[in-house]
Amino acid sequence: MSASHLHYLILSLTVLLLSACAGFGERFAEEEIMATQSLTWNDIEPIFLAECVGCHDDPPKLGAPQSLRNYDEVAPWLNRIKVRSLDLKDMPPGGLRTQGADILLSEWIRQGAPFADQSEEMAGEQAGEMAGETAGEMTKDSPSWEHDIYPLFEIYCNTCHANPPTGGAPFPLKTYEQAQPYLDRFQVRVIELQDMPPGGISNLEDLELLQTWLDLGAPQ
Ligand code: HEC
Ligand code: HEC
Repeated sequence: MSASHLHYLILSLTVLLLSACAGFGERFAEEEIMATQSLTWNDIEPIFLAECVGCHDDPPKLGAPQSLRNYDEVAPWLNRIKVRSLDLKDMPPGGLRTQGADILLSEWIRQGAPFADQSEEMAGEQAGEMAGETAGEMTKDSPSWEHDIYPLFEIYCNTCHANPPTGGAPFPLKTYEQAQPYLDRFQVRVIELQDMPPGGISNLEDLELLQTWLDLGAPQ
């Protein structure tokens, strides 16, 4: 069985499971997903309304730190949503309740979490703008240290990796030369383990930018 067949099967299965749940059937009409093959915010919004907005409302309730009522509020948290809702399965507390929601959410994130599909984007100026800004073109064609990564490090790293370093950090990361020896470690700690900076970077766009820069051989 080819990968695309398997993929199709999982989506169909998801739709069947979701159809069996009251309230979700209409939103995830099988034909809809078969027709588009690509998921958009419209497919995903019902999951957030059913599973998250009870706490992640505006204002947030029960100790939730932010509201997740619409695409713009969700987009900056995609990476943490992936970790908590899909990997650790402890968000919402106890894990996602709707059968199949995890498959759908993970597939949407895998596709780059589009707001709208491409034709809609071109038709609707506003939709295009939102998707482009937040999830569409997440990475520039060729990020450089000077224009992209240094500013990122100033935000996320150089409170500790200053010169001289503070907070127990072992070295400064203020210049291109200082960063060079640690490119492999950025990949491991910042992108894979996500424990550097401590707590990780929650903004998916920023992580993607760093990944692209590393993939390109870390241009100056
Ligand atoms: C019963 C209330 C409740 C529900 C429902 C809920 N959350 Fe949360 N959420 C919290 C609380 C409380 C915190 C802060 C404590 C924590 O991080 O565990 C939180 C924190 C978060 C964070 C930030 C934490 C981090 O690790 O960066 C994200 C992202 C998040 N929730 C996403 C979601 C998503 C997505 C859903 C639905 C699929 C959801 N939550 C459903 C209560 C809730
Ligand atoms: C709150 C302070 C703090 C921030 C912010 C921080 N670091 Fe660190 N960093 C440390 C400390 C402390 C260590 C040594 C302990 C360790 O390795 O966990 C360290 C170690 C490292 C190491 C060497 C460890 C290894 O596994 O090779 C690298 C590389 C690194 N940090 C990169 C970064 C990058 C890149 C950022 C920003 C994206 C960042 N750090 C943000 C405190 C910080």
